[in-house]
Amino acid sequence: MADDKYYTLAEGCPFANNASAVLMRGKQGSGLGLLQDTQLIETLAHFSRERIPERVVHAKAVGSYGEFEATRDCSDFTSASFLNKVGKKTPVLQRVSTVGPESGSADTSRDVHGWAMKFYTDEGNQDFVFNNTPVFFIRDPLKFPSLNRSHKRHPQTHLPDANMFWDFHVGNPEGIHQLLILFSDRGTPKSVRYMHSYSGHTYKFTKPDGSFKYAKIHVKTQQGVENLSSQEATRIAGEDPDFMIRDMFEAIERGEYPTWNIYVQLMSPEEAENYKWNIFDMTKVWSHTEFPLQQIGRLTMNRNPQNYFADIEQAAFSPSTMVPGIAASADPVLQARLFAYPDAARYRLGVNYQQLPTNAAKAQVYCPFQRDGAMRFDDNYGGDPNYVGSWIKPTKFYQDAKGIRASALALHTDHEKWVGEVSAYTSEITDDDFVQPAALWEVLGRVSGQQDRVIENLVGSLTGVKYPELRRAVYSLFGRVNNNLGFMLQERTEAVIKTVQN
Ligand code: HEM
Repeated sequence: MADDKYYTLAEGCPFANNASAVLMRGKQGSGLGLLQDTQLIETLAHFSRERIPERVVHAKAVGSYGEFEATRDCSDFTSASFLNKVGKKTPVLQRVSTVGPESGSADTSRDVHGWAMKFYTDEGNQDFVFNNTPVFFIRDPLKFPSLNRSHKRHPQTHLPDANMFWDFHVGNPEGIHQLLILFSDRGTPKSVRYMHSYSGHTYKFTKPDGSFKYAKIHVKTQQGVENLSSQEATRIAGEDPDFMIRDMFEAIERGEYPTWNIYVQLMSPEEAENYKWNIFDMTKVWSHTEFPLQQIGRLTMNRNPQNYFADIEQAAFSPSTMVPGIAASADPVLQARLFAYPDAARYRLGVNYQQLPTNAAKAQVYCPFQRDGAMRFDDNYGGDPNYVGSWIKPTKFYQDAKGIRASALALHTDHEKWVGEVSAYTSEITDDDFVQPAALWEVLGRVSGQQDRVIENLVGSLTGVKYPELRRAVYSLFGRVNNNLGFMLQERTEAVIKTVQN
């Protein structure tokens, strides 16, 4: 066979004609298909199977590659090696998504935007699975599926439904801070290049001596924050539903590489004990004056995916994917997420999803206690022991022979001691929950016309609520942020509804 390129079946057998089926042809020129036409059968069978489940949330996304460069030696608060030398570069995969709508939906719809990053560090992968908002709707993880269903489609009509949306939020008012952000200009960012993102959760930066700092992480666009008006977002959703994907792809193709500076806010465990807010409640932010932002690095996205499915759709991010030196805090939402993402990936991509090229660590991986399973596609650790040593310590003999050792870096230290009682968690709200939203309402007032736009955006949604008592509950929820806000919402919404009814 000549060594030029030719079409083959998936098993490599060359095939002469890749453009037509093989038929038992009659006089008319057409005819019967044959089971022996392996190419036809394989082609049709594969086509029917080429979709994998889309993510249950965050299905529509923009993806790209780039690099992180450390701008500070952070060894005073973390042992993470990618942060321990100024100028050190780490390759990064980024995936920025809307949350509720499906994969084919418009990416300018009003929504929170997810912001996932995979840092392929020399100590294994570090995933940051953030949002473009510094707070979240809930602080009890059990509410997550309900939150998302209320933002998605009604089980009967299969339509987005303002009644469900507001019914959820009236019943779970701890989300008021996030709601205000969602209905502000920031609910319709201009594109990926013009938005910030945030850890939201409190994380921990740790050192091998057991000391640690609590941290919130901020990713700040260097292109400047730009948002679309509601009208522009709606127009673009109709004219170019893939606007954000196009914007990012074309900017990178033009060589206009977007950059973000990455900052941390740090808090000692003692400060956390005495802080006025519960730092494990992700409906709250930390004061920037008391805990100033310190820059740790710079992110530049400079390479488009070669193949969207392989690079972005098959990517799996998880807050549980952390390098030594970074750890989860006791935030219950974060704790639940540590389970949910690998679980989702095993369902969506299969049990060996970490082997897919886009997820594979660039650091060495030796994990012989996790092997076999569907679609294992490497040597599966050959004959290496698949069990931890017992009395005769066979794995120890093996490790000694091969020079394999436990990594000192991966040692766990006791960072916290907990004493408590097992009981159902309550995330009931108090007046305290309205302090930060009220302050945000004042801040929104500093940008010309923004409070008015928040009201207009809320009215746009509330006019879809058909139950007057539910609308009244929403007015009173926003009235707890600011009396006038509640009043204006009521006035304008009811006026629109009256006009429509007449
Ligand atoms: C209890 C709370 C939460 C649960 C159970 C949860 C669960 C999930 C699940 C199941 C997925 C789909 C994963 C996949 O199929 O690969 C997902 C995606 C995502 N979530 Fe969450 N989530 C929670 C809260 C949050 C929060 C608070 C944030 C941000 C601070 C966040 C950010 C994201 C992002 C960015 C993605 C998309 C990841 C990607 O690009 O593949 N989630 N979440």
